[in-house]
Amino acid sequence: MTKIIKNIIFLASLFLCCGFVIIKNKELLFDYPEYWPKPDYNFSKLSMTEDEFQLGRQLFYDPILSKDNTISCASCHLQATGFTHVDHDLSHGIEGRIGTRNSLSIMNLAWNSSFMWDGGVNHLEVQALAPISSANEMDESLEHVVEKLNASKKYNSLFYKVHNDSLITGQKTLLALTQFLVMLNSYNSKYDKYIRKEVGGEFTEQEKNGLNIFRNNCASCHKEPLFNSNDFKSNGLAVDATLNDYGRMMITKNTNDSLKFKVPTLRNIQFTQPYMHDGRFETIQEVITHYTSGIQHSKTLAKELENPLVLTHREKVDLLVFLRTLTDKEFLFNKRFSYPKNQ
Ligand code: HEC
Ligand code: HEC
Repeated sequence: MTKIIKNIIFLASLFLCCGFVIIKNKELLFDYPEYWPKPDYNFSKLSMTEDEFQLGRQLFYDPILSKDNTISCASCHLQATGFTHVDHDLSHGIEGRIGTRNSLSIMNLAWNSSFMWDGGVNHLEVQALAPISSANEMDESLEHVVEKLNASKKYNSLFYKVHNDSLITGQKTLLALTQFLVMLNSYNSKYDKYIRKEVGGEFTEQEKNGLNIFRNNCASCHKEPLFNSNDFKSNGLAVDATLNDYGRMMITKNTNDSLKFKVPTLRNIQFTQPYMHDGRFETIQEVITHYTSGIQHSKTLAKELENPLVLTHREKVDLLVFLRTLTDKEFLFNKRFSYPKNQ
């Protein structure tokens, strides 16, 4: 039995009253609701302490990770919008360079088995390498980032606190970012309170109806309770002729994967606009209209979308109202995850 499972059992017995599973790894608690599946992320090799988390937080918000020291991870992943980039269909990197995809929101990453719209990254520890080295994002090399960090008194002392050694390496830098990213968990939306039958979780008739519509039409892909799935699907978007993005196929070179993209989470969807891999839809209404009357047929279109979804105007509104119950203000405004002002 792994250490972590032992911890889960030991601590679950301690915390059963609260309905949360709490993984205590060294000093830091990784907790999530009891009815959630076990995370995909293997915690047995990740030591998590408060100092490590704080170091990762500093790095996440620091433009030192980019070539001209102007862009931080947070430039494209803003907390108040579910750690994504609002109002930009395609993300903007250094010198205003425009990328080819809409920024993904960041939350509940421990339940993801791969990352990016096409699943091109399969370990959270190496995820940060992609934006750091991408020409349209931070356009920097990890080697040079490490050089800059080693020249910084602040980072020498922060790394020393964690490792008892002030020498900064690429591996330690990526690990620290992981320790921050993996803690960005959202599970206190109204929907969660409804499921846990907590105060504040009382659903109106409209929200209940919206949940039913969601379960009948959307939940096969956007699976409860995380509202994503570790699967790649084509949801019937036509290819954008300028971007020519065929998604998963570009990674696997398998034509069966043409036009398939990650099924993203819908948690906090109210604030993560624009939507889809290229940010083509500005509003959730447009997304719903896509599912009812915009589906483009192709060989790889998901089976459940072959026949258009039929929803009345009222049902569309109820669905939209339900999707708003996935907003978790405690997460969006959690000070632990915000820009570290005092250091
Ligand atoms: C210039 C904008 C930009 C910057 C800067 C940026 N990202 Fe991203 N991020 C994106 C985009 C766009 C995607 C989706 C890329 C894709 O699918 O090809 C993404 C995807 C991700 C994902 C995957 C989420 C998922 O669910 O699969 C994570 C994690 C992430 N970024 C973390 C970071 C970290 C950590 C940094 C800083 C080292 C960072 N990003 C810097 C734009 C950015
Ligand atoms: C067959 C699987 C499938 C079904 C069913 C499905 N979706 Fe999706 N959904 C996806 C995929 C895949 C994407 C990402 C597509 C892309 O960007 O290319 C997506 C994207 C979205 C997005 C944009 C999320 C973001 O962060 O940009 C929203 C909102 C959404 N779906 C809502 C719904 C709703 C509401 C329903 C039911 C009416 C639904 N989906 C049914 C697979 C599905």
